[in-house]
Amino acid sequence: MDERTGAAIAAVARPGGDPNGFQVFSADMRRFPTVARLRAGARAGLPRFAFEYGDGGAGEDKGIARNWAALDAVELVPRYGVTRTLPALVIELLGRRYGAPFGVAPMGGTAFVWPGADELLASAAQAAGIPYVFGVAGGMSLERAAELAPDVIWFQLYRFARNDHAVGFDMVRRAEAAGVHALVLTLDVPVRTTRPREVAAGITVPLRKDLALMADLAASPRWLMAMARHGMPRFAMLRQYAGEGADLDTVMAFVRDEMAGAFTWDEVGRYRDRWNRALVIKGILHPDDAERAVALGADAIVVSNHGGRQIEPLPAAIDALPAVVARIGDRVPVLMDSGIRSGADVVRALALGARAVFLGKAFLWGLGALGDRGPAHVASLLADETRAALGQIGAATPAAARDVVVRHPGALPF
Ligand SMILES: Cc1cc2nc3c(=O)[nH]c(=O)nc-3n(C[C@H](O)[C@H](O)[C@H](O)COP(=O)(O)O)c2cc1C
Repeated sequence: MDERTGAAIAAVARPGGDPNGFQVFSADMRRFPTVARLRAGARAGLPRFAFEYGDGGAGEDKGIARNWAALDAVELVPRYGVTRTLPALVIELLGRRYGAPFGVAPMGGTAFVWPGADELLASAAQAAGIPYVFGVAGGMSLERAAELAPDVIWFQLYRFARNDHAVGFDMVRRAEAAGVHALVLTLDVPVRTTRPREVAAGITVPLRKDLALMADLAASPRWLMAMARHGMPRFAMLRQYAGEGADLDTVMAFVRDEMAGAFTWDEVGRYRDRWNRALVIKGILHPDDAERAVALGADAIVVSNHGGRQIEPLPAAIDALPAVVARIGDRVPVLMDSGIRSGADVVRALALGARAVFLGKAFLWGLGALGDRGPAHVASLLADETRAALGQIGAATPAAARDVVVRHPGALPF
């Protein structure tokens, strides 16, 4: 374990402590003291296609903007005079303990943003003790993910329906053998949508390999050096299913043709029958869908609008959260992602009933700004901010955030 990873564990796991103690800031922290600044660093430092792929949303990014604005609008009313120590961040979720109430959301194509992204995210999550959801369209194999993050590994699956789900069921078998703790089925991609910023940047099937790409790469020696260290993007999880010796374009064509539609409820039931560990349904915005997932045996729900990447008019996930929490109560944990950029946002979601949240883009911006050190920096920054936000509102634990009074103008009127 290198020094920085050690620092991340210490930062995330640090219990209690003097709330008024002085902090010593690392050089990375002085350069990038917020996730928003990491985003600016990523924009400046990455090749254009890499930033556009990781950062771009549906349409003109209005869904992304709505997630941010909706989170910003949530106000927490603190209670003072109640706590004298910094809160502990540890949570229990699906029968396991985690170091903080946030984790790494599943992401595909991550290695376009930063070569080796998947390995780096898995290792940082393991070091920080936070849930790591390995996405099926990620750049390494499931077995490698489980080896790097044995204590925190979850696995996200999209629908591969050909041959009666032969590919999906094979992956479930592999997930069980590899010791994955939770299987996440994503329901919010019923149709393929196009992200204009990706298309304009040449992230297409096949990849646009033209002069603009060469110029883009030539301007980013850091990214090229990372590729020399970690290798070309590979989609290692899907490659074997795409055919013997499949090259990148062939694997991407396989993704386009085979990874189609979202699971139907019938199919969710079939996966439930084959998987006896925790089953998580991701991409829920309507309380009736949450109810349906629980009725089928889901162990947790992720309220999400896919980070604004699918289509613009969806409600912000934070605005959909309270109605889902009200409907589901304490039957299963309700989790949330989409738009989280700070510890204050984490605590907003906790206050509205989420048991934990996930972040996608924030971790990618960390990679873009700080390269290999990015994911650990994001984890430790968020842990510090979450601890401070909980302490500021008078909550001694993540669960205690639910007791705070919240003003939430955007809550969906279910
Ligand atoms: C580059 C990228 C790739 C993604 N790929 C997947 C995926 O393969 N499967 C999935 O369920 N969600 C995927 N997502 C969505 C995330 O899991 C998550 O819902 C979203 O990023 C949360 O919003 P945030 O980025 O604002 O934190 C992806 C997100 C990004 C940014």
